[in-house]
Amino acid sequence: MKACPSLDARARVLALAVVALAAALPAGAVVDRDCALPEADCTLAETAARAGVFAGAAVDPPERSPYTAFAVPEHFNSVTAENAMKWGVLAQRVGSYDFSEADALVDFAEENGARIRGHTLVWGRGPLPSDLGVLVDAAADPAARLRQILTDHIARVVGHYAGRVESWDVVNEPLDVFTDRFDQNLFLRTLGPDYIAESFRAAHAADPAARLFLNEFFPDFGGAKAARFVALVRELLAAGVPLHGVGIQTHAFLRPPPYPAFPGFLAELAALGVDVELTELDVLIVWFQAADDPEAAQADAFAGLTGACLALPACTGITTWGVTDADTWLDTTAPFAIVAPNRPLLFDESLAPKPAYFAVREVFASRAVPFSVQAARLLADFDAAVEAGSLGSARFPAPAGLQGLRAVLAEGEQLLAKARYGAACRVLGTAGRLLDGEARPPDLVSGPARPELARSLAELRRQLDCDG
Ligand code: XIL
Repeated sequence: MKACPSLDARARVLALAVVALAAALPAGAVVDRDCALPEADCTLAETAARAGVFAGAAVDPPERSPYTAFAVPEHFNSVTAENAMKWGVLAQRVGSYDFSEADALVDFAEENGARIRGHTLVWGRGPLPSDLGVLVDAAADPAARLRQILTDHIARVVGHYAGRVESWDVVNEPLDVFTDRFDQNLFLRTLGPDYIAESFRAAHAADPAARLFLNEFFPDFGGAKAARFVALVRELLAAGVPLHGVGIQTHAFLRPPPYPAFPGFLAELAALGVDVELTELDVLIVWFQAADDPEAAQADAFAGLTGACLALPACTGITTWGVTDADTWLDTTAPFAIVAPNRPLLFDESLAPKPAYFAVREVFASRAVPFSVQAARLLADFDAAVEAGSLGSARFPAPAGLQGLRAVLAEGEQLLAKARYGAACRVLGTAGRLLDGEARPPDLVSGPARPELARSLAELRRQLDCDG
């Protein structure tokens, strides 16, 4: 349909007004460096952002470790607290919390636009307040006492970081190291296996928006333990427990990779409808000592593990356990310390990226779509929706009534092609408000295609870190 000239003129005025509004908005983008895909000069963090997933590292607060500021924001767009949020680290005695170090890490991550994984609320084999066991044993009703202490702890910590920590490893290592039995810890002995569901419920109550994960170690990702873990996730979901994701630790230290069962195991978990994330990745160099080029073989192993996850839409990313070969926990932990240096990470002792860094980045790049291509797709979807009559404007007949919005989307695409991310964020923010129906007049854009387009645009803005 051809619009009449007066409507065209009104649409042009509207387009100008919209562009002027876009220019007046404050900048919010954290992405500010020009880099081009394929991965030629994008860092791992930039590549991960374009893929819409996370490349993370477990780190200590920047005051404790020089590697934290080296790693973030340049190479990683996600941060896990390697130690700072463990129960016994936050509270040496039950109820007496010192959040200062964990707060410093959260502040640092936020300032640098990194997503934060909280690790970990309940871990039977991890550090606990020194008086916890004594208090529980001395109580008239040990189960009631422990339940109270446990739920207080979760409420306190998750509440403290509500809205800031995006996802929590609520329960870590609920199963025995090698078998399909539950880990025989204080929580299991006192409360039975229900402590797992209760912990998730308490975390959900303290921050309903947080993504809640069950985190576990696997010797080889097959056999009885893996099957029990899948069954446990299924049982928890069937019971309505607020469980949103599984953290697969991926410490490759008991058997050499590749693990034939790994891709199928991850796919089986994804099929249950939960997010899947490799949360503690490290690969000992010792497995590849006989190879012609051990670092290249290690890189292949890293790529295989990362690729198995990123192949799944449910995969939200990977996290390496540490940053450089100089700060790996394995070199100070028995029995791995015996064969130190284990050299299991993406950077070497002198902070140089290893072949594994480039291999992992390539896997992310194969999933990444350049921002400008995403914007072009959005524009094409927009045009197709207008053509099909599934997008319209209550005020003016389409397409004239939608010209203003189209002009804004097209400008966003152009800006992204020039890697002008800040300006693109502002323009796309305006487009988002128009599509969301928050603009004045509110009925500017209507039709069944509107919510899906709004979602795609919001996702693009999220990847650009426009609100970071
Ligand atoms: C480790 C830390 O990296 C060390 O610094 C600390 O001394 C012990 O804990 N699985 C986990 C992590 O879930 O919390 C552990 O972290 C490594 C194994």
